[in-house]
Amino acid sequence: MVGVRCCFKLLCAIVVLILLHMNNPCTGCSERERQALLALKQGLVFVGDYGDPFASWGREAQNKDCCKWDGVHCSNQTGHVVELELYFVQGKISPKLIELQHLEYLDLRGNNFSRSQIPDFIGSLSNLRYLDLSNAKFGGVIPYQLGNLTNLEYLDLGCRYHLFCSPYSIYAKNLNWLPNLSRLKYLDLTFVNLSDVVGWLEAVNMLPKLTNLTLQMCNLPPPVISSVSLLNSSKSLVHVDLYNNSLDSSISQLLPGTHTNLVYLDLSENKLSGRIPESIGQMSNLEFIDLHMNSFEGVISETHFSKLSKLRYLDFSKLSKLVLNFSFDWVPPFQLDEIRLRSCKMGPYFPEWLRTQKSYEWLDISDAGISDIIPTWFWDLRNDFVYKDLSRNQIRGNLRSELACEFLNVSWNQLEGPIPSILSSVSSLDLSNNKFSGLASLLCTSTTEQSYLEYLDLSSNHLSGDLPNCWIHFQQLVFLDLSNNFLSGKIPTTMGYLVSIETLKLNNNRFVGGLPSQLKNCTMLTLVDVGENKLSGLIPEWLGENRLHLAIIILRSNQFCRSIPSQLCHLRHLQILDLSMNNISGTIPKCLNNWTTLAKKGTSTLTMIHATHSRDYIDEEYVTWKGVRSKYRSTLGLVKSIDLSCNKLSGEIPTEMTYLVGLVSLNLSRNRLTGQIPSRIGNLQELDSLDLSRNQINGRIPISISQINRIGYLDLSQNNLSGKIPIGTQLQTFDFAYGGNPLLCGEPLPRTCSEEEKGPGQSVLVNEDDKDGLITQGFYISMGLGFVVGFWGVCGTLLLNRSCRYTYFNFLNFLNDWLYVKVEIIKQRILNK
Ligand SMILES: *[C@@H]1O[C@H](CO)[C@@H](O)[C@H](O)[C@H]1NC(C)=O
Ligand SMILES: *[C@@H]1O[C@H](CO)[C@@H](O)[C@H](O)[C@H]1NC(C)=O
Ligand SMILES: *[C@@H]1O[C@H](CO)[C@@H](O)[C@H](O)[C@H]1NC(C)=O
Ligand SMILES: *[C@@H]1O[C@H](CO)[C@@H](O)[C@H](O)[C@H]1NC(C)=O
Ligand SMILES: *[C@@H]1O[C@H](CO)[C@@H](O)[C@H](O)[C@H]1NC(C)=O
Ligand SMILES: *[C@@H]1O[C@H](CO)[C@@H](O)[C@H](O)[C@H]1NC(C)=O
Ligand SMILES: *[C@@H]1O[C@H](CO)[C@@H](O)[C@H](O)[C@H]1NC(C)=O
Ligand SMILES: *[C@@H]1O[C@H](CO)[C@@H](O)[C@H](O)[C@H]1NC(C)=O
Ligand SMILES: *[C@@H]1O[C@H](CO)[C@@H](O)[C@H](O)[C@H]1NC(C)=O
Ligand SMILES: *[C@@H]1O[C@H](CO)[C@@H](O)[C@H](O)[C@H]1NC(C)=O
Ligand SMILES: *[C@@H]1O[C@H](CO)[C@@H](O)[C@H](O)[C@H]1NC(C)=O
Ligand SMILES: *[C@@H]1O[C@H](CO)[C@@H](O)[C@H](O)[C@H]1NC(C)=O
Repeated sequence: MVGVRCCFKLLCAIVVLILLHMNNPCTGCSERERQALLALKQGLVFVGDYGDPFASWGREAQNKDCCKWDGVHCSNQTGHVVELELYFVQGKISPKLIELQHLEYLDLRGNNFSRSQIPDFIGSLSNLRYLDLSNAKFGGVIPYQLGNLTNLEYLDLGCRYHLFCSPYSIYAKNLNWLPNLSRLKYLDLTFVNLSDVVGWLEAVNMLPKLTNLTLQMCNLPPPVISSVSLLNSSKSLVHVDLYNNSLDSSISQLLPGTHTNLVYLDLSENKLSGRIPESIGQMSNLEFIDLHMNSFEGVISETHFSKLSKLRYLDFSKLSKLVLNFSFDWVPPFQLDEIRLRSCKMGPYFPEWLRTQKSYEWLDISDAGISDIIPTWFWDLRNDFVYKDLSRNQIRGNLRSELACEFLNVSWNQLEGPIPSILSSVSSLDLSNNKFSGLASLLCTSTTEQSYLEYLDLSSNHLSGDLPNCWIHFQQLVFLDLSNNFLSGKIPTTMGYLVSIETLKLNNNRFVGGLPSQLKNCTMLTLVDVGENKLSGLIPEWLGENRLHLAIIILRSNQFCRSIPSQLCHLRHLQILDLSMNNISGTIPKCLNNWTTLAKKGTSTLTMIHATHSRDYIDEEYVTWKGVRSKYRSTLGLVKSIDLSCNKLSGEIPTEMTYLVGLVSLNLSRNRLTGQIPSRIGNLQELDSLDLSRNQINGRIPISISQINRIGYLDLSQNNLSGKIPIGTQLQTFDFAYGGNPLLCGEPLPRTCSEEEKGPGQSVLVNEDDKDGLITQGFYISMGLGFVVGFWGVCGTLLLNRSCRYTYFNFLNFLNDWLYVKVEIIKQRILNK
């Protein structure tokens, strides 16, 4: 008996030992799993900077236990690999992956699988509960085999960071497999193209445990009319995000009269129409609601919010057909963190219920039809980090003393009085387009502290008198716009303390005197506009010294005199130089070929973006072009322009000017320039507008001018030019471009040329690179453009009144882009022939 028992015990011990050996966490994962992982490693390569997980994945004895490998986790009970996560790898996933049959958690997000399809064999990992393949550069159709993952609770195939994936590279034709995932709680298919999935709503509806649903930007088709509403069966839903899908149904098709679990609802940027049902006010757990940019209409009343005591985030902005109508003494059940109601109609009275909100950080009630006096209680909320946008209303009254907030935009209202001092927390103030009158307390209230103000826009107000000389504390200021006021006196010397300033606009005031030398300290300047003042004296030499970033200089319409300092040539990034309408004499400096940005074709940036600590902003500037003054913002980077018109410049146009091949507009009109037009003027291939009128330029018009294919405006009138007008492109369409040059002949002038006047080389138009052919592709392109541009040239010229002041002639701002497109079309046609 003893022997048998002993034997039995021994047997048990052996069995236990074998079992332990197989699955004991101390001895690590099974050989099969190890081989599977090594096969996986084979197909992948680590591309991160540090932390290569594969460094620990090896065949050596000390690395034998794959449970200890980076990114691999084993069950502490069975010893099997249950979790796998890999970051910064690229390559192919080995089908051996399916050997990891116990895998419950697979995280491959953010990797680079080069647009390959999601492997269908993932469908065999039937124990998976968590699958994250988001932002991983997968492509193609979602394999229906995922429907096999009946244990799945979390599925993320979304594309949110475009550095790591491309929108719509994954798509689905149907979601018939989705209802099989009956345990799914979380589904995110952001930027998966679902435009063909008519039954998406039904499929989602059949997931009884779904809590979080994110289908942002999926091109969702409208739900089938007869289908049940979302959230019908899925009572479990707490989070619904269908942002930007162009859904043009009514909201009730998505959401029924009764769902109270919902915490987060984002239906923004769709085309949802109709009324927002009052029953929304019953969703008592709702914390976040974003419906901005839809086509809702009707009236929103207190009932819509009756039980929303947990609401923290409210975005109804850009629902311009919506009227918000609350009774005067309404006390909402919520305390909001963010209130975004831009362009909702909530006027004419200032919304009294805002008084009850004590802790918000963001308030946007711009363009809301408010026409009222701003109540004093509005300034009571003293949250240092609050963002307040009240712009584009008809709000009257004053700002209260000592502003506290981080960002305040009250532009385009009718506020008046002095601007109070601000607390140091304020970083951005847009007070433009109001009737503010005093600046002294804002600038000069004695404080030893540095102001955090970075952005100050006071343009188009009623500021008058001397600009206070109190800029010492504004060393963080990056943007200052005081344009379009009535400021007089000298530009204050303490502006030299604005050591961070990048954009400085003082234009259209009554400033006198010179630019103070203290401004030398403002070495970060990229845009300086002091145009339309009464400034005088020399153009300072320091303007060109140590100013690496300076791209736009506008001194137009002042009384600056003497010559252009050659130091300006140091400004390698100069893009717009406008010195027009001054008393500048002397010659045009020859060194201007040092302006490297102007000497380059094309542009690297369309917009001129500035980053401040708090927010970014984009420069905008008015540029006079072909006699029209227009505002450029989104395409300011394209504008490369020199305007020296209406001065007393003498001497020749330097040939170095022809190096500035990026120039789009050149205006040297109304000066005393002599000599000839540089023969290589045709190098300026980007030139859209050339005005040399009203000088004393003589000689022939260089033939090369006909090579400027893009020219849309040309004025050479009132000079001493002679000989035949070159034939080509649209030169013959500029009827008014040549008047006042009695010695010019040939089309479009009525006077025909004598043999002598015709001169050499007038017969053929060729580009340098196709000298061999008479009629070349280039010729056709030029012809096509000649017509297109010439048409505008004629219309444009007819409307011009030839004065240096503005004429109002509506021309396309985007002429450049438009021309490029035309060239491409014409090229294509020629190639197809
Ligand atoms: C096993 O792992 C689970 C979860 O990781 C943990 O809660 C548990 O304490 C672990 N058990 C042992 C024995 O380490
Ligand atoms: C992704 O991987 C492919 C090759 O596998 C490579 O050509 C491509 O540059 C990678 N993309 C990124 C963004 O790393
Ligand atoms: C789906 O699961 C079944 C049963 O678990 C299995 O037999 C089948 O091979 C799986 N199909 C795929 C494509 O993985
Ligand atoms: C989904 O479930 C249905 C029935 O429940 C079954 O017939 C079908 O094969 C399953 N599809 C997949 C991909 O597992
Ligand atoms: C989405 O898929 C549809 C049909 O499959 C296709 O016509 C459309 O171009 C795709 N959209 C995008 C943005 O890829
Ligand atoms: C939707 O709700 C109705 C009524 O409660 C029910 O009859 C119907 O089966 C539900 N639809 C689904 C898909 O569960
Ligand atoms: C699901 O949604 C809720 C509510 O918005 C949120 O708190 C939770 O973090 C979400 N779950 C996951 C896994 O993101
Ligand atoms: C919304 O989607 C459209 C088309 O799918 C896209 O063009 C647009 O950029 C998206 N809007 C945003 C803000 O992403
Ligand atoms: C706003 O509500 C009041 C009463 O609460 C009502 O008399 C008025 O007509 C409503 N205005 C609009 C535009 O609905
Ligand atoms: C202030 O609001 C106006 C009008 O809504 C807008 O144009 C301007 O850019 C805003 N200012 C800032 C600094 O954002
Ligand atoms: C100019 O900068 C220097 C050094 O940063 C400083 O000492 C000087 O006070 C500044 N001058 C003015 C007028 O701001
Ligand atoms: C022009 O550039 C050259 C080379 O960058 C430099 O040596 C020269 O001093 C510059 N001239 C002027 C006037 O800026």
